[in-house]
Amino acid sequence: MPKRRRDPSMALPSEITPREIYLGRRRLLGALAGLAIGGTSLASSPVPARLTYRKNAALSTTEPPNSYEDITTYNNFYEFGTGKADPSRLSGSFRPRPWTVAITGEAEQTGTYTLEDLLKPHPLEERIYRLRCVEAWSMVIPWVGFPLGDLVKRCRPTSRAKYVAFRTVERPSEMPGQRFPVLDWPYVEGLRIDEATHPLTILAVGLYGEVLPNQNGAPLRLVVPWKYGFKSIKSIVEIRFTERQPPTSWNRSAPHEYGFYANVNPEVDHPRWSQARERRIGAGVFSARQPTLPFNGYADQVAALYRGLDLRKNY
Ligand code: MTE
Repeated sequence: MPKRRRDPSMALPSEITPREIYLGRRRLLGALAGLAIGGTSLASSPVPARLTYRKNAALSTTEPPNSYEDITTYNNFYEFGTGKADPSRLSGSFRPRPWTVAITGEAEQTGTYTLEDLLKPHPLEERIYRLRCVEAWSMVIPWVGFPLGDLVKRCRPTSRAKYVAFRTVERPSEMPGQRFPVLDWPYVEGLRIDEATHPLTILAVGLYGEVLPNQNGAPLRLVVPWKYGFKSIKSIVEIRFTERQPPTSWNRSAPHEYGFYANVNPEVDHPRWSQARERRIGAGVFSARQPTLPFNGYADQVAALYRGLDLRKNY
């Protein structure tokens, strides 16, 4: 992305702390700070909220997940700064609860819903997905969430609804990155409605079995595993059904570099770097880059959505 400070693929070698030790440290710090997670203060309950979910092995990769530390300290969340460590360092004042999401536009069931109301009817699943960032690195993340398609169905979109648009919260007092015009805030994204209702597309509320940390998009974020990571918008406050293709933040910012579709495609290079290979975060600086797979390895499930579409033009 244009504001990079260094070669994005040159990740620091991962210092993998065993997850339990890392969590123990986090709990202690949280308890000291009296942080609230899942509505309960860690000062009174030293254990972060565990989620109840079933594992969806059929839709999970068998590749080993990245460490909790990698996933929560190497982030893109420009609302908290453009450096990879900024979101974990600077998101401590962000308050993801209470939270409401506005469902608007071309649907019968519109309105403003609390996070709890939105989640109630949807059993949670764990799905281990690859995340391929446009910056040519990747991770494997055990998300906890539910299919966006189930929520879309409940909203009963009208026949005019062709797209689903998403908007991130705008709170410069809690999100220091929003005090600078790095992007045109608020961050917005969009999907075609058939992409939004594809069974692989989820709204995530957790990872590694626990509520999402702020830096990963608490309390609710999109995950679309066959698209570059920037489509997976974080901290969502609005879901809008639209007739026209909605604007997206990175396309607005640099249209020649980031298209609406953003499907992972090793054959279409970014204008400033190749997309043919990727570097797995945590694998160490000297390990070989691995080939990037069409649609991030999900071609069997999603290629049919794009039959007849020129994927070089619709990048
Ligand atoms: N959502 C918002 N609101 N702001 C952002 O800057 N960055 C995107 C995406 N969602 C971003 C965002 C990018 S570029 C990536 S690669 C993924 O979030 C990274 O998600 P992760 O940090 O949870 O791995």
